[in-house]
Amino acid sequence: MNYQPSIDLAGEVCFRPNFFQTKNRINYLIDEYLSLEQLCDRLEDLPQQFRNPQPRQWEPINWQDINLEQVIGIELDIFLSIIQGALDTEAPIRGYTQTSRKYLQPIHPSMAKFVGGAIRADGTIVELGLWEKEERQHTPALAKIYQHLTQKKITPQLRQVKSYQPRENPYQDLYGHGLHRVVTEYSAACLYLWLMSHTTGTTQQVIAEILQDEINHMTKFWGMGMWLYPDSAQQLMRYILSQIHTILPLSYELSPKPQSNLKPTFQRMMSVLNWQSWSILSRGELIYTFIGILKRMWQWSRNLTPEYLQSCCASPDFFVNNNLESHQYLKSNL
Ligand SMILES: [Fe+2]
Ligand SMILES: [Fe+2]
Repeated sequence: MNYQPSIDLAGEVCFRPNFFQTKNRINYLIDEYLSLEQLCDRLEDLPQQFRNPQPRQWEPINWQDINLEQVIGIELDIFLSIIQGALDTEAPIRGYTQTSRKYLQPIHPSMAKFVGGAIRADGTIVELGLWEKEERQHTPALAKIYQHLTQKKITPQLRQVKSYQPRENPYQDLYGHGLHRVVTEYSAACLYLWLMSHTTGTTQQVIAEILQDEINHMTKFWGMGMWLYPDSAQQLMRYILSQIHTILPLSYELSPKPQSNLKPTFQRMMSVLNWQSWSILSRGELIYTFIGILKRMWQWSRNLTPEYLQSCCASPDFFVNNNLESHQYLKSNL
C-alpha cells in the first residue's frame, strides 16, 4: 500500500517534526497566506472599508472538535502558556483602538474611524471601528482553545495600555505610534503563523482565522505608513531587525540596554509569552518565521508606487484636514 501523507492548512503533517519539516510548513504557510497578490488585495480593500466597513467573516468552527492531538511537535504546557500569553497580549482591545484613533484623528480621519470607530463629543462610541470588531474576536477564540484543551476556564490578565500622549506635532506623534502598531501586528502575524505550523485540525483552523485578521491589519497599517511617510520603509525594516536582535539568545549579554523608547516592544511581548522557557528549537523556528515574513513584506512593499499607495490609502477628508503644504511642512520637520 502506498504511504499517503496527511495534509492540513500548513502542508504535510509531521507528528514528530524536525526543524526542516517545520521549516517546510512555515514556508508553505507564508506562501499560502502572504502571497504578493493577497497582500495587495488586503491593501486595496481599504477604500471600500472607508466607505462601507464590513468585518471579515470567519468560517464556521466546530469548537467541540478541538483536542490535544491537534497540538504537534511542541510540549503541551509550553503551547498552553503561549496561548495564555497571546490572550493577555490581545486584551484589552478597546484601549489599543482608542489610543490609535486619537493619534490618527488629526492626520487621517477615515483611518481613525477604521481603527477606533465614530465617537461623540462626550467620548461615547457611536460605531465600533472595523479593527476593533475584528480584533475583539481573538481573545475569546484563544480562551476557547485553552478551555477545550484543558477543561479549565481562563480570563485575560488586565494590562495597562499606553494612553494618547500628544506632543507638538501630530504627524510626528503618529509616526512613533504607528511604527509601534505595525510592529505589534507583524509580531502577532508571525506568532500565529508559527503556531499554525504546530497545530492541525480545528485548533489550526481557529488560529488560521486569527492569522488572517492579523495579516489584514498588518498589511493595511504597513501600506498606510508607507504612504504617509514615504521615506520610512528602510527605517521600519531596520527597526524590526533590531527588535528581533533583542530576543536572540546571544544578544542578551550583547545588548541588554534598550537604545530607543520603542525598543522594549519585542522583549515585552516575548516575556509575556514566557519565551525563556521555550526550547532552542522552538525559538529558532519562531525567529525563522520572523525573518521569513519580514522578507516577504519587504519584497511586497518595495514595489509599491506612490500612485498605487495613493489609490489605496487616500480619502477625501485627508485632504480637507491636511492641505498639502502643511503636510509637506510636517514631513520636512520629521
Ligand atoms: Fe489580534
Ligand atoms: Fe492585531
